[in-house]
Amino acid sequence: MDTQAGPNTQEVIDLYAKYVIANYKRLPKVAVRGEGAYLWDADGKRYLDLFAGWAVTGVGHCHPRLVEALRRQAGQLMYMPNTWYTEPQARLAEWIATTGFGGKTFFCNSGAEANEAAIKLARLHAGKGRYKIITFENGFHGRTFAAVTATAQPKYHEGFRPLVPGFRYAPLNDLGAVEKLVDEETCAILVEPIQGEGGVNLCDPEWLKALRDLCTQRGMMLIFDEVQTGVGRCGTWWGWQVSGVVPDMMTMAKQLGGGTAIGAMCAKPEVAASLVPGTHASTFGGNPLAAAAGCAVFEIVRDENLLENAKTMGAYLRQRLLELKQETPMITEVRGVGLMVGVELAQNGADLVAACLEKGLYVNCTHNTVLRIMPPLVITREQVEEGIGILAEALREWKPAGH
Ligand SMILES: Cc1ncc(COP(=O)(O)O)c(C=O)c1O
Repeated sequence: MDTQAGPNTQEVIDLYAKYVIANYKRLPKVAVRGEGAYLWDADGKRYLDLFAGWAVTGVGHCHPRLVEALRRQAGQLMYMPNTWYTEPQARLAEWIATTGFGGKTFFCNSGAEANEAAIKLARLHAGKGRYKIITFENGFHGRTFAAVTATAQPKYHEGFRPLVPGFRYAPLNDLGAVEKLVDEETCAILVEPIQGEGGVNLCDPEWLKALRDLCTQRGMMLIFDEVQTGVGRCGTWWGWQVSGVVPDMMTMAKQLGGGTAIGAMCAKPEVAASLVPGTHASTFGGNPLAAAAGCAVFEIVRDENLLENAKTMGAYLRQRLLELKQETPMITEVRGVGLMVGVELAQNGADLVAACLEKGLYVNCTHNTVLRIMPPLVITREQVEEGIGILAEALREWKPAGH
């Protein structure tokens, strides 16, 4: 228990009820503090955070080096318009290029914006009226208009039609279906190397290679949405490095800023050249504060060997989950790469997630039946054990539906 007095939980919830638009289903908790893999609520209760804020706090909550980098930058220069040069933005673009496929980066503020930039650049670069983009069923690319249209899940489209023209949807890992959709107006294929919101669905590396070949043959852009998979989550800097299939563009956000709002789109230099002045912009994109945070995140991942940790802890976590699967019919499959892990459940997992939370473990359930575990990359073996212990207990007490 934390002895620090926090705000009153009910008071904060009441203020939300009065003044904040209720577009999120919120947990009845007020978060006040985080440190590494732990979180505290306003009542002083501690939680093991195996979700890392939707894969945002990849280096853990309030990593001292990240806090120091922010403090330093905040005292020096927080903002300048993009009509000026600033060093943190330059350094962050260098990090993205050197850990990835080279390329040049445009900065924005979120994953959806990063995808908007990629979609606009794909059309711009292709020219000649080529505007169609192929995306994949159960994918997720954000909530702005083009990004939500790219998101091939009807539930996100309801009430918003007409959507942006030009998007075509194919099943994941189905080459024939993609080939059928390609025509002379298609300018790009947009895909997550591992689908996150869609239920931690893995792409077949051979299929990704075939998409690469198809894009090269037809002069289309292969765009990887690395918003959830990027910056070390898969045990590699970028999710595409697991398959070795190199995209023409990649988009990123979440873990990139360690908790500050930043998004980015990196494109091969010859493609990036099409984004000339006047075509696209963002007031806050690549601001010194968020960019300094981004640089600190890369330094921490490198200096603390977090790619290796993501690999070994990810393998250990999956092994422990497979052992749990032996003990309960409520787990039907364990899948994932690095620290992006999905546990397929025999029924809707909302109650299980709520029970885990009451026991001090924060995880998430997506696509109704997929328990999603995305710990911070700094997770230790002991913390994995702690999480498995709580999950095992919650699973033992979990009643099958209808009982
Ligand atoms: C793969 C992917 N792309 C895009 C987004 C949208 O990012 P944001 O919420 O920062 O706009 C998300 C968010 O969950 C995501 O997982």
